[in-house]
Amino acid sequence: MSSSTGQDQLTLTTGSLSPAAVAALETLRRQYFALVAPYMLRIPGSDVLATAPAQEFLVNRLLEGPLPQPEAGYARGFWRRVLPVIEAGVHAIDDDDEAAVDERIYETVAGLMAAPSTNAEGAPAQSHKTFLYDLPNNAGERSVTLLEEQVAVQAGTTGLRTWTAALHLAHHCIYSQDELFGSVEVPPIVEIGAGTGFLSIVLAQLGADVIATDLGGDEEDEEGEVRRTPLARLKANIELNTSASLRHPPTARPLDWNLARAPVSERGESWLECAAPAQSGSQRTVLAADVIYDPEIVPLLVDTIHELLQPWKATGNDDSAATAPEPVAIIAATVRNEQTFALFLARCKAQNLDTELLQLAPMDPQHPTFWDTALDAGTRVEIVRIKRNA
Ligand SMILES: C[S@@+](CC[C@H](N)C(=O)[O-])C[C@H]1O[C@@H](n2cnc3c(N)ncnc32)[C@H](O)[C@@H]1O
Repeated sequence: MSSSTGQDQLTLTTGSLSPAAVAALETLRRQYFALVAPYMLRIPGSDVLATAPAQEFLVNRLLEGPLPQPEAGYARGFWRRVLPVIEAGVHAIDDDDEAAVDERIYETVAGLMAAPSTNAEGAPAQSHKTFLYDLPNNAGERSVTLLEEQVAVQAGTTGLRTWTAALHLAHHCIYSQDELFGSVEVPPIVEIGAGTGFLSIVLAQLGADVIATDLGGDEEDEEGEVRRTPLARLKANIELNTSASLRHPPTARPLDWNLARAPVSERGESWLECAAPAQSGSQRTVLAADVIYDPEIVPLLVDTIHELLQPWKATGNDDSAATAPEPVAIIAATVRNEQTFALFLARCKAQNLDTELLQLAPMDPQHPTFWDTALDAGTRVEIVRIKRNA
């Protein structure tokens, strides 16, 4: 699923459309798979949408392509906005023989009207969501498909949907590798509080060796049902994106920040694995997105970063990393509350960690790499680089 998605077919079906019309249809496609709220959709004019090649595009690239469809409630809202635009164009063309709404679009909409939009328990629907992006240097399109909840908090956790800061940090990982990592190669990564796994999957697509961590443990309850912990969802989402073109998917591991102050022997294997040098010999860069939101958790979070940044040799386990570069952490923070953010910076200082706010060119809101549907779209996002003080 992470491979390029049908460029030849695109050329065939859009032959008579102008480049601007193709670009507008592509935007609509990316918005559709990212579940952008129907009222925010950028819908091409009816003069474009009613044409046969544009409708062919919608059928081939939205309805019949390889990507999993959004859940029915979203798709209904999408077609409620798009279908009238097609119909208006068809009526305006006014030649009975040629212009018509494609039957496959009508059939899809009819099917959607009959489909339920909530799950069996009546809870708000989950949906597949696919983020599409272009690799640098025209190296092709990539996709990340996730199973996500459609609400901010579900099953007592915020980890079942992708948040704004992760989209921004992924954008910088793709297009600003040098400024972010000081190298054109993405270093080995450990992501903490990885949630749906979006950022870790993008990094693995960029070729990085990634461990993605979150809360979780015994994923099956007594009846053998898989529990909706962040770690269970993280594993399922990694599985969804594992294909021939993603040969080294992220490894998912439990890592609970509450254990940062526990003796090393009580933390569990995954703490050691995350702090140890990767195969390349360097310690992992610690990444996280939208983990600074609860003042009570901030001290544990900073302790976790502090632990993962300790030079491996100092733990007495190995001396293979003696000459490796000093490990760093890069945290993307959505600043909803200045005091919580200030608390995070102050705790870092108290732990002898040096913080630097990176000045990176933000995602272009008119042409964002990733269409944002999170609750805090448009909120300030800071990218903080953290090192141990010399
Ligand atoms: C707001 S979500 C962000 C998820 C993801 N990074 C993103 O940006 O989409 C916060 C994440 O921190 C995780 N988290 C909260 N407390 C944690 C703890 N004590 N140990 C490990 N992870 C924790 C949650 O499970 C959740 O995945």
